[in-house]
Amino acid sequence: MTGRSGRSGVSVLVCYASRYGSTREIAECISEELRALGVHVDCIPAGRDADPEGYDGVVIGSPLYMGKWLVDARELVSRERVALGQVPVAVFSVGYSFRNRSEQALRSGDAALSDVRLFINPRESAFFPGKVSPSVVSLSDQAILTLAGVAEGDFRDMEMVRSWARTLPMILGLEEV
Ligand SMILES: Cc1cc2nc3c(=O)[nH]c(=O)nc-3n(C[C@H](O)[C@H](O)[C@H](O)COP(=O)(O)O)c2cc1C
Repeated sequence: MTGRSGRSGVSVLVCYASRYGSTREIAECISEELRALGVHVDCIPAGRDADPEGYDGVVIGSPLYMGKWLVDARELVSRERVALGQVPVAVFSVGYSFRNRSEQALRSGDAALSDVRLFINPRESAFFPGKVSPSVVSLSDQAILTLAGVAEGDFRDMEMVRSWARTLPMILGLEEV
């Protein structure tokens, strides 16, 4: 398969869902790291414009809200399941629960991926700590955070994200392209 006009001839689509921007910033960080490795990257929201056709690899990410991926990301994997079945895919999830790497947190992350695995079979799944800012979220989201007793903070670990991104060419088999 030939990619979309990358310097190296290899191209990756990074698609993300994000309600308040922290997952978008993680997707952009992954994209920058891949570009530094010479990969052509398109980094776009997981809306109806996201089309995996013609890419050598696809990365899809979403934050967890009430234990699930956001609907845009779930709809993307459902709508594009045929195209995504023909290209290597890696996924990442973002959530406050991943700030501690307990087995329970990672199990809940894995459970959230069951909706995704109904449609696609990702080669790799990563779980990144997210950012919780009660002052910028909607009133209903604020109420949920208060009920759940979630502490405010930016728990993102961009070095963890960058390290993962550097493994993607191998995981996605881009070196073979
Ligand atoms: C209403 C609400 C529900 C959330 N539910 C979960 C959850 O079930 N599991 C989790 O790990 N994180 C949960 N989070 C944390 C978000 O996934 C985290 O803040 C993430 O970084 C938000 O990403 P975004 O800024 O891209 O929207 C929740 C946050 C909010 C505001």
